[in-house]
Amino acid sequence: MHQLHKDIPEPVPGTETARNTEQADRMPDLYFRLMSLAFRVRDRIRPPGRLLVEIGIREGMTVVDYGCGPGSYVKEASGLVGAAGTVYAVDVHELAVEAVSHRSRKEGLANVIPILAKGYDSGLPDAVADLVYALDMFHMVENQKAFLAELHRITKPDGTLILDDGHQPREKTRRALLDSGFWSIEEETTDHLRCRPLAAVD
Ligand SMILES: C[S@@+](CC[C@H](N)C(=O)[O-])C[C@H]1O[C@@H](n2cnc3c(N)ncnc32)[C@H](O)[C@@H]1O
Repeated sequence: MHQLHKDIPEPVPGTETARNTEQADRMPDLYFRLMSLAFRVRDRIRPPGRLLVEIGIREGMTVVDYGCGPGSYVKEASGLVGAAGTVYAVDVHELAVEAVSHRSRKEGLANVIPILAKGYDSGLPDAVADLVYALDMFHMVENQKAFLAELHRITKPDGTLILDDGHQPREKTRRALLDSGFWSIEEETTDHLRCRPLAAVD
C-alpha cells in the first residue's frame, strides 16, 4: 500500500509496473534493523548534509530519495527544499516507511512524504521530480533496467538523477545506465554519477 499521499494513483492492472513482483529487492527485517543501527554510527561520522548541497538540492524542488532506508537524508533534504518543496522518501521495505514517518513526525518535517514501493513501481506520478537520488542501494537492485525505467518515468525531462554505485564496480553501474536506454551520464565523480533522462523514443 502506498502511504500518506492522497494524489498518488494506483498502478493500472496489467501494465508492466503492476506485473512486477512486490517483494523485489526487499531484505529481511533483521538485516534492515542491523543496517539502521550501523547507519546511526555512519551518520555521526559523516553527516549527510554536505552531499545533498553538493548534488544540487535547492529551495522549492521536488526531490525523491529512492531507497531512503531509515531516512538518514530526509531532515537535511526537507530543510533544503523548504516549505515550497517536497521530499518523497521511497523504499520497498515497510520498516523504512515506518522509520521515515516516525522521524518526520518527531522533527516536524511536513514536506516529507514516505512511500512504500511495490517492486519497481513507486506509484509516484509521471515526471514529478526535479531531482532523484538513489544512494548506497543500486547494488541491491536485481532488475536494474526496470528500476532505471521507473526512475526515468518519475523524473522531469529536464530533471536529474544522482546515482551512486553502492557496493558494485563503477563499470557495472555505467553499463546498466547506458544499456538501459533511459539515461545519459553527464558527469562522474568518485562518489556518484549525474545523469540526464533521454527523451522517450516511440
Ligand atoms: C543500504 S540502504 C541505503 C539507504 C539510504 N539510501 C542511505 O544511503 O542511507 C538501501 C535501501 O534501499 C532499499 N531498496 C533496495 N532496493 C530497492 C528498490 N528496488 N526500490 C526501493 N528501495 C530499494 C532497501 O530496502 C534499503 O532500505
